[in-house]
Amino acid sequence: MSIYIKNAWYVAAWAKEVGRELLKRNIMGEPIVFYRKNDGTPVALTDRCAHKLLPLSMGKLVNDNLQCGYHGMEYDCSGACVRIPGQDRIPATAKVRSFPLVERYNAIWIWMGDPAMADPAKIHEIRRINEPGWTIIDGGYQLHGGDYLNIAENLQDPAHTTYVHLRTIGNPATSEVPVKVEQGADYLVTYRWSNDVPPPPIDKRNGNFQGLVDRCQYYYYFAPCVSRVDVVTMEAGQEHTEENMDKGLRLHGYKFLTPESETTTHFFWMQLRNFGIDDEKLQADQFAGLDQTFAEDNVIVTAVQREQAATGIRQQTWLSIDAGPSRVRKMLEDMAAAEQASTQ
Ligand code: FES
Ligand SMILES: [Fe+2]
Repeated sequence: MSIYIKNAWYVAAWAKEVGRELLKRNIMGEPIVFYRKNDGTPVALTDRCAHKLLPLSMGKLVNDNLQCGYHGMEYDCSGACVRIPGQDRIPATAKVRSFPLVERYNAIWIWMGDPAMADPAKIHEIRRINEPGWTIIDGGYQLHGGDYLNIAENLQDPAHTTYVHLRTIGNPATSEVPVKVEQGADYLVTYRWSNDVPPPPIDKRNGNFQGLVDRCQYYYYFAPCVSRVDVVTMEAGQEHTEENMDKGLRLHGYKFLTPESETTTHFFWMQLRNFGIDDEKLQADQFAGLDQTFAEDNVIVTAVQREQAATGIRQQTWLSIDAGPSRVRKMLEDMAAAEQASTQ
């Protein structure tokens, strides 16, 4: 069974990556070439000429069409061949696949499955983006050496922070606090509140808290490909509603996982926060810190993937900390199986 869930929107690229230069990127094992038409509309075509299979990314744009770099066949943005040098007849096989795209939230989203199902309303809603009182760090990208299921597990696994991220976000004091796990039809959340605690100095400064605070980290996973870590510090004694949480210090760390292959994953990330809005130093420090943190995860996940391939087993022992990771994997595997059963 394939691990891919195709009928969903995935981040294919940051919007700023796609222009009049051809961008080549593999997604779910398929080579794809991206560009923009003269009017700015993004286009995605299979990166393989229908003649002798030369990657079309080795060709060039002729206005809105893509010309193969071998014998000059030209494709329009629907993937239809519209010109063959030296002949008028265009064979029925002279076409490549085009993929539905939507530009939203500074990203280009792609639909790899049935185009008839590609409803833009299904793109995951990014909370608080472009809203007053919030600022964004986006454009984060790393290619990770693990499949997206291993990465999804890592993102539902707060217990690793103490050991993997000792130099960045790790905090040994929280490693023994138990976590809660909740699950809906297509999401999972792992979280832990620490109530009535003194604010850490950095939160006290940023949030100007006078007394005790409640703090929480929520690890959301929205199937199949969006993770959001929600970090909240709020005045103690209030109900933990979304509205009250927004009045405290709040940060949304988003990751978008797009399988490159069965064993590698495009890892896009952005962060939204409601404090330090004009603080350029904080902005630069957070980008560097997050980039380093995710690089630390990549080292771990890449090594785990390599050992899984060498042994043919995925995991040898199950611990109580695996509740979240195991559930997210099962949710994704069940979705992939259901999709494949429905298309057979
Ligand atoms: S390989 Fe593309 S035109 Fe011949
Ligand atoms: Fe991590």
